[in-house]
Amino acid sequence: MAVTQRPQDKLRTPKPLKKPARFTLPWPLNLYQTAVGKKWVMGLTGLGLVGFVVAHMIGNLHLYEGQLEVAEYAHSLRTIAEGLLPETAVLWVLRLGLITMFGLHIHSAITLSAMNRVANSRYQAPRNFAAANFASRTTRITGIIIALFVIWHLADLTWGFTGGFMGWRGDGFNHGDPLWNVDNSMSNVVIAVWYMIATTAVAVHLFHGIGSAFTSIGVSNPKFNPLIKPLAAGIAGLVLVGNLSFPIMVMTGVLEADEPLDVHELIATEFKEAAE
Ligand code: HEM
Repeated sequence: MAVTQRPQDKLRTPKPLKKPARFTLPWPLNLYQTAVGKKWVMGLTGLGLVGFVVAHMIGNLHLYEGQLEVAEYAHSLRTIAEGLLPETAVLWVLRLGLITMFGLHIHSAITLSAMNRVANSRYQAPRNFAAANFASRTTRITGIIIALFVIWHLADLTWGFTGGFMGWRGDGFNHGDPLWNVDNSMSNVVIAVWYMIATTAVAVHLFHGIGSAFTSIGVSNPKFNPLIKPLAAGIAGLVLVGNLSFPIMVMTGVLEADEPLDVHELIATEFKEAAE
């Protein structure tokens, strides 16, 4: 007997929360097709990226040692395991890990947001923001600022594409000479303020992210939970103070480069001797 569906039955039938995946990935990749799997990926890649941001800030403190010293440090990163592996091989492995983490972190954030939007659209009551704090509500906007900042930052201090752009980098870009490049970039007040805004966004994002990463991966214990907020505040505060210091110290003239270094010459002489 044919079952006829009345209009009111249609209303009662809930729509699926998301379209079923067009294909199912094999185990364990199929876990990423679930909200819980995506949360794990977002949490773990987030913690990995926190590690990078902390290490990068600590590495940047070599800027205070002097122009030659920070150039030598940058050179030592490019030549890890020299003699055993080609130059920059280890650095490229680290870079690929970083790119993968960035990519997965952003992809899981966007797809989880889309799943949340569909799920929330089923509830009639207005959202209760009492449980959300400033950082959690601004995570999306700070995330977008960080993504834009990283592209800008690579163009500015790694690739040197911004040399001469809009006429602010008077003395150009010098590959392998971090203090020269940082000084030339952040001597401009607009660029220095942009660095301060972006590094503040990084700290706010980190503060919320560290807390929620533990929740996402299911690490919750009444003994340790009270420690998570102070830990997140400590790490975010440390990164904020360290990163804000660079544009401030350039603007006040404490961090200053003399002349562009002849990096090729140094690699053939001083850096080689120091490594031996
Ligand atoms: C004011 C604070 C910062 C300063 C002074 C700074 C400085 C630098 C410098 C000098 C380089 C080029 C190193 C070289 O090519 O030898 C660099 C590369 C880089 N920075 Fe920063 N940085 C800052 C903040 C950040 C933040 C907050 C992030 C991430 C959110 C970041 C991500 C990167 C990445 C991904 C690279 C490329 C690394 C590579 O080429 O392997 N930086 N930074």
